[in-house]
Amino acid sequence: MIKVGQPIVGDEEISAVAEVLRSGRYVQGPRVAEFEQAFAEYLGVSHAVAVCSGTAALHISLAAYGLGPTDEVIVPPLTFFSTVTSVLHQNAIPIFSDIESASYCLDPEDLARHVTERTKAIIPVHLFGHPTDMDGINAIAEEHGLVVIEDCAQAHGAEYRGQKVGSIGHVGCFSFYATKNMTTGEGGMIVTDDEEIAEKCRMIRNHGMAGRDSHLVLGYNYRMGEMSAAIGSVQLRKLDLMNADRIRNSEYLLSHLDDIPWLRVPKINMDTKHVYFWCPVQIDEPTLGVSTKDLVGVLRERGVEVRQRYDEPLYRQPLLTDRSGYPLSCEHYSGAPDYTSVSLPVVEAVAGKMIGLPNHPKLSQDELDKVLEVFHGI
Ligand SMILES: Cc1ncc(COP(=O)(O)O)c(C=O)c1O
Repeated sequence: MIKVGQPIVGDEEISAVAEVLRSGRYVQGPRVAEFEQAFAEYLGVSHAVAVCSGTAALHISLAAYGLGPTDEVIVPPLTFFSTVTSVLHQNAIPIFSDIESASYCLDPEDLARHVTERTKAIIPVHLFGHPTDMDGINAIAEEHGLVVIEDCAQAHGAEYRGQKVGSIGHVGCFSFYATKNMTTGEGGMIVTDDEEIAEKCRMIRNHGMAGRDSHLVLGYNYRMGEMSAAIGSVQLRKLDLMNADRIRNSEYLLSHLDDIPWLRVPKINMDTKHVYFWCPVQIDEPTLGVSTKDLVGVLRERGVEVRQRYDEPLYRQPLLTDRSGYPLSCEHYSGAPDYTSVSLPVVEAVAGKMIGLPNHPKLSQDELDKVLEVFHGI
């Protein structure tokens, strides 16, 4: 089976972890500080705050800006669900806005239609490693005084008009989950140029503590451990090389698949650096004559594993449509939209019909050619 993704770790990461174990210091020590500094330098920002996951990074960011009940936060409907749940964790209201058909990221034109007097923030997601149109997003944010929290969980090292994603909005949030462009097993990072926000984020990740026995704000245990940080520093040094392999593998596959009539390859915005967390293609089901799900099964039988997500626009998730459990059953959601009546045409045409091809840095030329052979044989 040709695997769709694989974490790339070697002896350097193993030694780094062993060193931490021998050191006896496991939490919030010198390795976390070193990883934060290196990550901030890589992004060209003043502050980086290491946390235990990408979800924690999003939640802390929303909390640091004081978002809460009745505040609306605009999110895309095609992303991992925690972009949305982080808003609910603050008891704020997720508002869905449609995506662009070329990049699968938030479409600034549609976004403008969803801004109300209750809107406080936007979370653009750089989906699959393709940057969102940040000029368009920032223009709307500036006009209405909104906070921009970039969700970069799938886009480490991606660039928009020469600037690294995460450094373009007010705050950037990264995930280091096992399958991501770089990993710490589990982990996350918040980056920002705003010193006050960085300080709030540091406090919220560590029980709201300002000192040894002083709790100023509602906080959590969202810290990153020393072992994760030690792995992160090694991975960060390899990130550009790993991305270069992902990009080369993806471009090779896509350039040899664009003659297949039942498959649509993405149009990449030339002003961006796409880092291909996924190598996405869209299936034209009527032309192929079978469903994307069935295609995935056939590919697997023939030895090619692919990703297939996200099946539905996220406004169709039962948590949102049923409103039966906490927090949507609470009074402060009385002004929230009826998610069963939300309908966004671009995402509805795409959801469930996207697959991600194997493109990880360890793939050999023979494996890439086998993928092409399998696709052309269908
Ligand atoms: C777009 C997006 N946002 C947020 C997250 C959450 O990151 P984590 O799994 O580290 O909590 C993910 C992770 O899968 C993601 O893909």
